[in-house]
Amino acid sequence: MSTQELVANCKEQFNNAFGENPQKVVLSPGRINIIGEHIDYNHGFVLPAAIDKYICFAISKNNTQDCHIISLDLKDEYKFNIKDKIEPVEQNWVNYFLGVFNQVQDKIDSGFNIVFSSTVPIGAGLSSSAALECGFLYGLNYFFALGLDKRQIAKMGQKAEHTFAGVNCGIMDQFASVFGKENSVIFLDCDTLDYQYAPADFGDYTLLLLNTNVKHNLQTSEYNNRRKECEAGISIIKNKYPEVQNFREATMEMVEDLKDEMGDVVYRRSRFVVGEISRIQELVKSLKDNNFENVGKLMTSTHYGLSKDYEVSCEELDFLVDNVLKEEGVLGARVMGGGFGGCTINLLKKSEVKKIIEKLSKAYLEKFEIELTPYQVSVSEGTHFTD
Ligand code: GLA
Repeated sequence: MSTQELVANCKEQFNNAFGENPQKVVLSPGRINIIGEHIDYNHGFVLPAAIDKYICFAISKNNTQDCHIISLDLKDEYKFNIKDKIEPVEQNWVNYFLGVFNQVQDKIDSGFNIVFSSTVPIGAGLSSSAALECGFLYGLNYFFALGLDKRQIAKMGQKAEHTFAGVNCGIMDQFASVFGKENSVIFLDCDTLDYQYAPADFGDYTLLLLNTNVKHNLQTSEYNNRRKECEAGISIIKNKYPEVQNFREATMEMVEDLKDEMGDVVYRRSRFVVGEISRIQELVKSLKDNNFENVGKLMTSTHYGLSKDYEVSCEELDFLVDNVLKEEGVLGARVMGGGFGGCTINLLKKSEVKKIIEKLSKAYLEKFEIELTPYQVSVSEGTHFTD
């Protein structure tokens, strides 16, 4: 479905449900990440971009105390009163709304109606949850004159995820969804939230996403475990090297030096994080120099680090990466996002895209009896109003 169709459908369904046109329509995008995985919560840098897959919200204030949210895709709805005590509920998708609403409830003086629908696939590692949190808050910010700037919107979206979805995530997804810019990747310092845009230009090459269409249920618990293991790692480093504040200041020599003390798991997690922080800086330089071969090589190194040291890959993702790398014209490939399913991101020659999709889809189906879903995404604008 095109974005235009998505918007038209939301408006139409809003009209059917509430008998009027929505006062505002918000589009909030999913994201990709070129490199810098699992380091947003480890004081690193990341290189994400918003994509042309969106959640669309048709919204009106209704001047009652009642709120009514309709999910077109899930064929589900949720109603609450603006004075209700807000707590997590059984319907998973509702928690992203409530986790945001909860933070601004004291400034909300009217109910509202929302109809929403999405072209961001769920569980694909494209951050549909960040798009949901940030798009909703973007709308509330307008209707209730909350005076939030984009950084605050991203941070509050992240907080909703921590408090109502139970995922102790970093800031990358929400930041990318809000700050996305057409044809630009965002080089983000996750400590200071300073950022620079760089052209999303890969010359004769392009990015292709391959969705495994699997989502292993370890996702949340293992994500939160990784954070704990990294905290253990940095605390051991700081103990021996008090001048080090965080992983950004740690070196591979320090990690090697403390290998025995860390134990195998914490050692491998720390080794990945220090390696990834230096890889992203090298990749940004290679991108500037149009050295796409090296960009691809670094992406692939990230994959094997995520798979072997960080252990957030899975059989399906490893299969896709191993096999795509055998093809001519492929410069690099890796698991993208939190892991345990979702998409791989691949850097390959534009002219090879069709052939590679065909070949990989067939091999994947044969091996796992699961259809592969390819996405050729464009790098697009962050959360915004549309007509
Ligand atoms: C998820 C989290 C992000 C980030 C990535 C891994 O998408 O929401 O904060 O940690 O995983 O890079």
